[in-house]
Amino acid sequence: MSGLPLRRALLAAPDYVSSWHRPAPGVAKLDHNEAATDVDPGLRAAVLERLAADSWRRYPDPDAAGVRTAVAAAWALDPRAIVVGNGSNALIGLLAGALDPATTVVQCPPDYPVHSRAIAIQGLATRQVPVAAIDALQPFALDLPALHACVCRLALPVVLLSNPGNPTGALHAAEPLLELAALLRERGGLLVLDEAYAEYAGASLVAATAQEPALVVLRTLSKAYGVAGVRIGLLVAHPATAAVFARASLPYSVGLLAQLVAQVVFERGDPALVVGTGAARTATTCAERDRLASRLAAVGGVRVLPSAANFLLVHVDGGAANVLAHLRNRAVVVRDVGREPGLQGCLRIGVGTPAENDRVVLAFEHAR
Ligand SMILES: Cc1ncc(COP(=O)(O)O)c(C=O)c1O
Repeated sequence: MSGLPLRRALLAAPDYVSSWHRPAPGVAKLDHNEAATDVDPGLRAAVLERLAADSWRRYPDPDAAGVRTAVAAAWALDPRAIVVGNGSNALIGLLAGALDPATTVVQCPPDYPVHSRAIAIQGLATRQVPVAAIDALQPFALDLPALHACVCRLALPVVLLSNPGNPTGALHAAEPLLELAALLRERGGLLVLDEAYAEYAGASLVAATAQEPALVVLRTLSKAYGVAGVRIGLLVAHPATAAVFARASLPYSVGLLAQLVAQVVFERGDPALVVGTGAARTATTCAERDRLASRLAAVGGVRVLPSAANFLLVHVDGGAANVLAHLRNRAVVVRDVGREPGLQGCLRIGVGTPAENDRVVLAFEHAR
């Protein structure tokens, strides 16, 4: 549409077609990498009690100070290192909107499509440095020499990638990432790591942000913490870097409920207690993931890629259409990522409850 005083990149962008759906009862919804079970009833009760006692007519704290203090205590950070957002997607948008228009954003596809969306809407230039192919010795490894060379050719480079990767599930090692951040600092750039699945990987670079002003880490409460519906994301950076991003966040963008949930989650101390019961909750998901992986790997013509997240990327010889039909017959919804470059014949399967995962295995066994 012409005649609107809007950025050309926005006018030219395709509409966002969401894959969101409300699952009918009995459907195993394994296509958004959500937690397999809902939050602990005790956590719900604690939040609702505080929500009932709080004023709804007043604005919430624009600085989300209670959340920042609780997160800082749990993760041994300076509260000034944290910016709270309405989900990490909102923080990806905030970050893209804050970048200098002369920035070039370097991505390592295949990666989380919302990154590309946020960059495209801002009309920022991009460069692609794909990860290693699925059949490489180390599938989906970063091409570090190519990344360094690319960064060195750009005037204002920002590298943006998810770690563990979505949809690959691959975990990139800390040391080369810190070297990349140091290079980006020298070049006046930034390394942005989207660590939505860090809890499952048991690895995060949030602590390194205190020493590295060119490193920004995004975290979410939508996965291991099991509160995707509430919308809470965290941007963690060196306090000097975080202060600038905080300026880009408009007042009152994180509502009362989200702030209360995040506060209760982190004040409870052990994040693994948050969803389900027991401190082993994240470990249980990882154990279920590994059980699912070995069951699927035993099915002929199926290759399961190593995953450090709460989902599996699975390659089906000859294409996944038949497997998808069998999954549908068993009311299992997974993500078909076969159209993404380098992922032909691949499905991304969220780890569900043991019973849901068994349905996935049965569908594969019957399809092959
Ligand atoms: C890599 C990555 N980043 C961010 C998100 C979205 O997180 P949030 O729910 O906090 O917006 C997802 C969700 O699938 C994701 O996979």
